[in-house]
Amino acid sequence: LSARTPFIAGNWKMNPGTKNEAIALGKEIASSFSDSTPCEVALFAPYPFLDATVGAVGSSGVKIGAEMAFVEEKGAFTAAVSVSMIKSLGCNWALAGHSERRCLFGETDEDINKQVLNLLNHDVGCILCIGETQAEYEQGLVGPICTTQLKKNLLGVTAEQMANVVIAYEPVWAIGTGLTCPASEAQDVHATCRGVLADMYGAAIADTVRIQYGGSVTPETVDELMAKPDIDGALVGGASLVAEKFSRIINFK
Ligand code: G3P
Repeated sequence: LSARTPFIAGNWKMNPGTKNEAIALGKEIASSFSDSTPCEVALFAPYPFLDATVGAVGSSGVKIGAEMAFVEEKGAFTAAVSVSMIKSLGCNWALAGHSERRCLFGETDEDINKQVLNLLNHDVGCILCIGETQAEYEQGLVGPICTTQLKKNLLGVTAEQMANVVIAYEPVWAIGTGLTCPASEAQDVHATCRGVLADMYGAAIADTVRIQYGGSVTPETVDELMAKPDIDGALVGGASLVAEKFSRIINFK
């Protein structure tokens, strides 16, 4: 049995609409996190709500992170937010490479690699999101796409720094569509990703890296996914905005 502690995170994206809603959601989720919750839990909230969400979850043990962090430290970068800024709020995690950042905001593999290195150099944990588009899926390119993204996005990351890295495999066609990737198929991709990490860092390090699945995870699909040997957690979008659903997901069976 693997020694990896499962890790389930909610990515709120550009939700909820107000600070008070974020506080209420954070409090409700935190209240469902207990000693019997079988995983580590984090919430990735929009910048304006980070401070309030840190306060809302209090000392529950739920971690709060940013949805991305810009690579510069400070200066004339209108609307950008640095790692030191999020760290000063008590956030020790950030996402990098979410497909919405890649597709809608034009972030390249090189941009994402810089973000990953910057987070790790500031000792902030990084969830690196990878995954193929629908067209790539239909062309049978899942393995090559994930391999390329892992290699390019982790370029220069040391074996030691991998202790602060979590991978989220999110097939783009499964995000927000209600089409959860079948658990056995996701398991195969996770095993492929672990193999790539083994080539890059050796099998012992690869065995310690948590690989989350993301894409329409629900209370109905989480248990089967989490039963797979290489699925170590989930990155949850829509269902993390409904406290009752996310609470069930983090307390998977
Ligand atoms: O980062 C999580 C995400 O992209 C998955 O979203 O709504 O399909 O759970 P959703």
